[in-house]
Amino acid sequence: MAQLVVALDVPSPEEAERLIDELYELDLIYKVGMESLYGYGERIFSYMEERDVRHFIDAKLHDIPRTVAAGVKQLVRHGTHIINIHALGGRAMMRAAVEAASERAHELGATPPHVFAVTVLTSLSRDDLNEVGLGGNAVQNAMRLAQLAKEAGCTGVVCSAHEVRDIKGALGAHFLALTPGIRPAGEAHADQKRVTTPAEAVSAGSDYLVVGRPITQASDPLATAKAILSEMQVCQPR
Ligand code: C5P
Repeated sequence: MAQLVVALDVPSPEEAERLIDELYELDLIYKVGMESLYGYGERIFSYMEERDVRHFIDAKLHDIPRTVAAGVKQLVRHGTHIINIHALGGRAMMRAAVEAASERAHELGATPPHVFAVTVLTSLSRDDLNEVGLGGNAVQNAMRLAQLAKEAGCTGVVCSAHEVRDIKGALGAHFLALTPGIRPAGEAHADQKRVTTPAEAVSAGSDYLVVGRPITQASDPLATAKAILSEMQVCQPR
């Protein structure tokens, strides 16, 4: 059953806490990305622990293996459900992250978090990729990086829902897919380029759908999140 992840992309801890309170009746995962992590990370982790809600730390780590491993160990102490790293950091970096997550969780007597590798950002088109020297299209790049991420021991990948069928077809349904770039029909794409609706993402086999602005900027975030959840349920593959 695919799960909905709400991006806490709001500038203040008060707004993030208000959003969690408003959506509290729903079974959601909250994504702590750059804005919330750098702005008020410690405070929001304590609040989520108090309220017993699950979270995903979208730190998108990309550095030398030792530095990434040390960063992962710090993040694991928050008892997070998911952390992520950039697949472009390479095999040794991904492996170091996976090992660090497992070691630290073991020391804490906790369940190790899922480690997802970001393949190709959903804001990048083929032209953007080619401009930075990555030949081919988004699917080809995502496939190659997903294969490497699997070999390095990652639980799954962050990709666009457009790539999920190919990735799962090649690497198996148990290799998980977390997909941002989700837009309910008729919503503005903003800076996202490779977008799909919630229904399309679930039908493609996505395990986690990440939604930010369509919920955080809605006049009624609870009603919007409920509508997305029911669209997801209807399209769940059997
Ligand atoms: O507001 P929107 O729904 O576009 O937010 C998507 C969220 O997912 C943002 O927090 C963004 O940083 C994150 N994300 C993404 N593409 C990726 C990985 C993460 O959009 N490949």
